[in-house]
Amino acid sequence: MTARKIIIDTDPGQDDAVAILLALASPDEIEVLGITAVAGNVPLALTQKNARIICELAGRPDIRVFAGCEGPLGRKLVTAEHVHGQTGLNGPVLPDPTMPLQDQHGVDFIIETLRDQPMGSVTLCPLGPLTNIAMAFRKAPDIVPRVREIVLMGGAYFEVGNITPAAEFNIYVDPQAADIVFKSGVDIVVMPLDVTHKALVTKPRNDAFRAIGNRVGEAVAEMTDFFERFDKEKYGSNGAPLHDPCVTAYLIRPDLFTGRHINVEIETRSELTMGMTVADWWRVSGRPANATFMGDIDADGFFALLTERLARL
Ligand code: RIB
Ligand code: CA
Repeated sequence: MTARKIIIDTDPGQDDAVAILLALASPDEIEVLGITAVAGNVPLALTQKNARIICELAGRPDIRVFAGCEGPLGRKLVTAEHVHGQTGLNGPVLPDPTMPLQDQHGVDFIIETLRDQPMGSVTLCPLGPLTNIAMAFRKAPDIVPRVREIVLMGGAYFEVGNITPAAEFNIYVDPQAADIVFKSGVDIVVMPLDVTHKALVTKPRNDAFRAIGNRVGEAVAEMTDFFERFDKEKYGSNGAPLHDPCVTAYLIRPDLFTGRHINVEIETRSELTMGMTVADWWRVSGRPANATFMGDIDADGFFALLTERLARL
């Protein structure tokens, strides 16, 4: 099996970090063409720095990291330091990066890569607000049919919102961008809170990260120790939800997930429900299906995969 070529678009974020580590630990299944940072959990200056910190933690200073958009298409940036801490990677003490940030803008890297790579060979993996992806599609509509698939973390239906009563953070930060992406016609796989809230880092799972015995395992345990505070307090969760690693795990083991191919539209008008993913789970709207919206996960299988792969770094 040849490795799937991907671009990771990300706003690290402890869970983004684990998603990136899982991808870099799985070269037989995943070829990371580049990482584009976007403003989200923390401002762009930090997300691009954190992406490089994570690549060096994985022993991969060769990975090309690009800075993308500093804020949403049409709204003021909302960040999530209350969840991820001031740096966005609170928890472990990790050295500042020495690997370079690429000069090219992340949006231009996405466009250039999709034009250069064979038709239908590149998967886009957004783990944060969809600003970079939407900007690339707006700037170069010719690349849209060249995308193999978009596998993203975002949205919610039964779980409703984590940043407002109606909306999940990634979609809420840039609903206009999400609307462009969900109407693009590209095949989309959605990992919503409905799935990610079932991927909880319980104490035994966190202990398993520590037991790996390498710096990556220790750092991931320290990240999730920090990151779990928000969800434990808000939801009474039994650990941190590993949102973004569901995206990279899907690329390796799609059988760990189940969902439905349905219509998903984005609220972009009402401030009350701004950024809500209106997922037609029961297929009552008659609107055409445009996304595979995941609803369940084999959590034990997910953590077994993740722990085994982190041990490889
Ligand atoms: O709502 C969870 C999502 O928002 C995750 O991707 C997290 O990293 C933040 O970006
Ligand atoms: Ca993220």
